[in-house]
Amino acid sequence: ETVYKVVDSNVNNQLNYAQAVDILNAGEVVAFPTETVYGLGAVATNDEAVKKIFEAKGRPSDNPLIVHIGTKEEVGLYIKHIPEVAKTCMELFWPGPLTLVMQVKPNILARSVTAGLDTVGIRMPDHPVALSLLQQLKKPLAAPSANRSGKPSPTEAIHVQDDLGGYIPYILDGGSTGIGLESTVLDVTHEPPVILRPGGITKEMLELEIGPVIQPTKNEQNLVSTPKAPGMKYTHYAPNAPVLLIDCDVEKVKKAVQQLQAQGQKVALLAPDNFRDIKADFYFSIGVAHRKEEMGATLYHALRACDKTLATIILATTTSSEGMGAAIMNRLEKAAGGKWYTP
Ligand code: TXA
Ligand code: MG
Repeated sequence: ETVYKVVDSNVNNQLNYAQAVDILNAGEVVAFPTETVYGLGAVATNDEAVKKIFEAKGRPSDNPLIVHIGTKEEVGLYIKHIPEVAKTCMELFWPGPLTLVMQVKPNILARSVTAGLDTVGIRMPDHPVALSLLQQLKKPLAAPSANRSGKPSPTEAIHVQDDLGGYIPYILDGGSTGIGLESTVLDVTHEPPVILRPGGITKEMLELEIGPVIQPTKNEQNLVSTPKAPGMKYTHYAPNAPVLLIDCDVEKVKKAVQQLQAQGQKVALLAPDNFRDIKADFYFSIGVAHRKEEMGATLYHALRACDKTLATIILATTTSSEGMGAAIMNRLEKAAGGKWYTP
């Protein structure tokens, strides 16, 4: 029921883009790759179409969507006033994994995109398939991650098929997404700007260019989450088996696995390559230890893989919260519900 099209240099991409554009113009949804995760897009000015995103995902309707654009110039069509910091960010980080939350012009975007807020999150994705689609469509695309609500975001088209196959008409398969974690959401209506969700453009990268940026700690997030970052209040992905976080230390992990197995647990281990020889019941690599780009790119795939095993518990090694580590630890903490392994 879902048409699944591979877009790469070996096929007639033009036909696939034309089909995707027709489906979007007919008010339906299309899944497409971005450099962060796959998105589920609908024309952002068509309220009926945007509602289909919420239906397919099972997403609460008060959680606003990100608007994707194919050229920087379009921002002025939707945004009342573009702050100077936003102009700098667009210049330096677009196309790229940075969503800017700004004051929206009334009555242009579909109501369900903004969920009634007077702001909207906008980004220009850095992916050839997403950009081709947007530039041929010549309209903005509202697009959350293309997963069922409560599952990890899809980093491969097959993840989209697993979650939404049969519910959506069209998937463009552009291979694995590079970054693997959702974009940084930066609220530039606030002075200094606030990171509502950490991602590929890090606090450090931003501060080098625009000066101080607030990145709320875990506890502070609870304070700022209403009503600024509506998405934060929803329960995030939790695999079928509970996740416990643990330091990235081979001896500690080896002991933890043995102790859990002695208690009758089937242990899935999410850890770097050098933990491969530990005798866990299931093992999923997250790349070379502390190479945060590799960890970000493999994390959701590994979490999804755990759900296909008979593991009764998942041990996940951590990293520091510097750079991309902030985004990785933010997603890991959520998957674990903040729980750490204690001997
Ligand atoms: O990388 C990404 O951002 C991916 C790809 C597809 O672009 N999209 C994505 O969308 O992750 P979604 O809907 O899963 O996450 C959007 C986040 C939510 O946490 C939402 O609450 C927040 O952005 N958000 C959207 N509009 C907002 C607004 N006006 N004010 C505050 N937060 C907003
Ligand atoms: Mg999402």
